[in-house]
Amino acid sequence: MKDTRFAKQVLFVNSLVPLTLLLWDVYRHRVGANPLEVVTHTTGMLTLVFLSLTLAVTPARKLLGANWLIKFRRMLGLFAFFHGFLHLTTYVWFDRFFNFKSAVKDVAARTFLAVGMAAFFMMIPLAFTSTNKMVKRLGGKRWNLLHKLVYLSGGLGALHYWMLVKSDTRLPLTFAFVIALLLGFRLFVKYYGDRRAPAGSIVPPS
Ligand code: HEM
Repeated sequence: MKDTRFAKQVLFVNSLVPLTLLLWDVYRHRVGANPLEVVTHTTGMLTLVFLSLTLAVTPARKLLGANWLIKFRRMLGLFAFFHGFLHLTTYVWFDRFFNFKSAVKDVAARTFLAVGMAAFFMMIPLAFTSTNKMVKRLGGKRWNLLHKLVYLSGGLGALHYWMLVKSDTRLPLTFAFVIALLLGFRLFVKYYGDRRAPAGSIVPPS
């Protein structure tokens, strides 16, 4: 497989660009009258974007016959988790001021928050089992099965977004459509065969 070390470094630096720009804007007070809204919006959006990119790796690998793309999947997934964590932290910190009791009450009272929370919780085992060591420990089959949760997490993330927008639902529906398409591709390959990779071939995440 190709040596992707340099490409990985480029991806890592580029993945940090949106967050850096956001922090810079916050620091320079260039985020308008409601910084909380801007930070919540940006971190939520980045979570969905990275989740979708993670899900796009396998279809792209299969369609292009570019197996080396798999080497970027773990990093993209971890960036999704990282931005999701920042999104949740923004809420707990600046919306609830670390009052965990009030956060739990609020999440229980507003369905879109509970859906977001479920999406985030599903990312936790995925992040913690993303290492090669954990792939070995769980065994490829079980690891692959567990990591199917990423589709559910992405779907719930899009649903959470759709539930909270008041009028223009085009963007959340686009995310939902993209995630459904990527899942559809995987199911198609599973049931109608994949001529490029032998059935059951397990590709480690790094
Ligand atoms: C995978 C997990 C999640 C994803 C992908 C996600 C994504 C998003 C997106 C795209 C937005 C829209 C931002 C906007 O247009 O203003 C948003 C808003 C929001 N999210 Fe999440 N979210 C996730 C989890 C959570 C969690 C765990 C919480 C807190 C419990 C949360 C709380 C919020 C809040 C408070 C808003 C702003 C609501 C508003 O504008 O009234 N999200 N999220």
